[in-house]
This record gives sequence, C-alpha cells and structure tokens, in this order.
Amino acid sequence: MHKVIFDTDPGVDDAMALLFLHNHPDIDLIGITSVFGNASIETTTRNALYLKQQWDIAAPVAKGLGETLDPSRAHVGWPTFIHGDDGLGNIGVPETVDLACDPRPAHRFIIDTIRENPGEVTIVAVGRMTNLALALRDDPDIAVLVKDVVIMGGAFDMRGNITPAAEANIHGDPEAADAVMTAPWPVVVVGLDVTEKTVMTRSRLEAIVASGGKRAKLLSDISQFYIDFYEQHVDDGMVVHDSCACVYVVAPELFTLRSGAIRVVCGGIADGQTIQKADDHIFPPSDWDNLPSQNICIDVDADGVLELISKTLGQSSAA
Ligand code: BDR
Ligand code: CA
Repeated sequence: MHKVIFDTDPGVDDAMALLFLHNHPDIDLIGITSVFGNASIETTTRNALYLKQQWDIAAPVAKGLGETLDPSRAHVGWPTFIHGDDGLGNIGVPETVDLACDPRPAHRFIIDTIRENPGEVTIVAVGRMTNLALALRDDPDIAVLVKDVVIMGGAFDMRGNITPAAEANIHGDPEAADAVMTAPWPVVVVGLDVTEKTVMTRSRLEAIVASGGKRAKLLSDISQFYIDFYEQHVDDGMVVHDSCACVYVVAPELFTLRSGAIRVVCGGIADGQTIQKADDHIFPPSDWDNLPSQNICIDVDADGVLELISKTLGQSSAA
C-alpha cells in the first residue's frame, strides 16, 4: 500500500488525478494539500473540499499559503481559459463548501505527516512546488524521511507549454521547483515529455462514465471545458497531465526514466525551464555538480497508462 499526500491545484486534470488516487486499491490517500496555480489558493482549496465532499474522500485537506517562495516574484495570471473561472470547468461549484480544512498550513501538514510515517510517505505534487519547498525550508530533515516525491511538471527534451521554455507548474514558482529538484530526496519528474503523449479521448471518457457511475459523471462534466481548450492541441480529448504522476506511483514500469541532476532556470527569458544533466554525459564543472541525481520520464506506454486510468476510474464501486 502506498501512503500518498497529494499536493494539488484543482484544476480539471487534478480532479481526475484525485479520483484515481481515491479509487486505486493500492493507494492510501492520507492527505490533500492545496496550492495555487490553476486558480487562487482560495479557489483551489474550495475545489479540493468540494471534490472531497462529492466523492466521499476521508483524507483531510490542508490549505497552502498562496504566494511564491520568493514573495517579490511577479504574479502569473490564472489559466481560466483552460480550467474555467471556478477552476473546475465552470460547472458551478458552490461559493463555499461546508467542510473544514485541517488547521495546519499545507507545508506543516506535510512535515508532520512525514515525521509520523518515516520512510513511508510518497508525495505526489501536481501544482506549483511552493508547499514542498516551504516544508523543506522549515524542516530540511524530512528529505531523508520521505519515501518518494513524484512531480508533474517540467519539459526536458521539448518546448514548454506556458512559454517556449517552461511548463506551467514550474514556471509558477521556479525558485521553489529548484529547491525541490536539488534536495536530497528521491524525485521522479513526470513532465510534458510524457504527459503530452497521454491523451484521453472523448469516447474513452464516455466509457468511464458508463461504468463508473455518479463520481465519473461529475469528473466528465468538469472535464468538458478543458477538452474544448485542448481541441487546439490534440485531435480528440484531453491531455491527462496530473494523472500520469499518480499512475507512476503504482505502475512505474510504464515509464522510461533518465537519471541526472536537475536545475530550474530562475529569471530571464527562460524563467522556469527545467534542465537535466544526464549522468552518462561528462561536462566541465557546472551548476549541476554535487547535486542528487533525480529521475525524469523520457518515454511512456501511453496506452498502458490510459488503460489503467480507465480501469481505476470506471470501477463500479466508485458509483
Ligand atoms: C500542469 O499545469 C496545470 O494546468 C495542470 O493542472 C497540470 O498540473 C500542466 O502543465
Ligand atoms: Ca495541476
């Protein structure tokens, strides 16, 4: 059983990833921490609570702080054209949800939970890396107490999606991402190199709804606005970025990895670009030296990933 803290900015594809974690029999979802990105921290936290309520998720929600690691950084606007004004595809999420958050801020929740479960916690982070970086800053020793950190973010052997250089989650807080990538904990980065190959077609989503009942139907309703946006990028359907990171936790054999130190560009025209120095290539001394080797995903069995998502989301027990 994998004990997972899900750090998320729901977010349409975040919602699918959350339902995957909730439904998968080998995952014990022990906490949800909210971060800003697809919308403000108030909206992403409200959305996490809403999904918890609708899907009957036991895990507590802890709210993130809502500003970048370096608070002087200029604000990057919310991608309402991808996720809707409410962050969940404009389905009409109620203004408030009658559920309380955990009293601790997200980074403190992360620290406490790792310390209570030494060597057992996998963090799956699919928004900006702010909460993880704050947790490391307050308690650097958690790096050796965590089991794994799996991140959706970055673009390595390809262009970005928010600028030609950068992927959105990393671009939203590059200093935080650099701190997370260079810390002495084991990181696997599931970036655009593999997520953009993993496209759920409309008909596959319909099949999930047919077998997955009410929960899957809500997910499908949430996803329609995002599918309309992705029409300009893919033939049919939606790129399932965040679910790919969740699938990695239970089926790593579906991904091809490359190992090496990772740095994030902080500032300038390539702000937020992720660059790996592969272990098998020798360079003169550089800013990648003496840092932990982290893994990035360079290829994926996309059909295998989509099959597993369909099977997990379409379980009739999820009705
Ligand atoms: C990432 O950015 C967000 O819009 C998505 O939820 C995903 O985590 C993709 O670049
Ligand atoms: Ca996300």
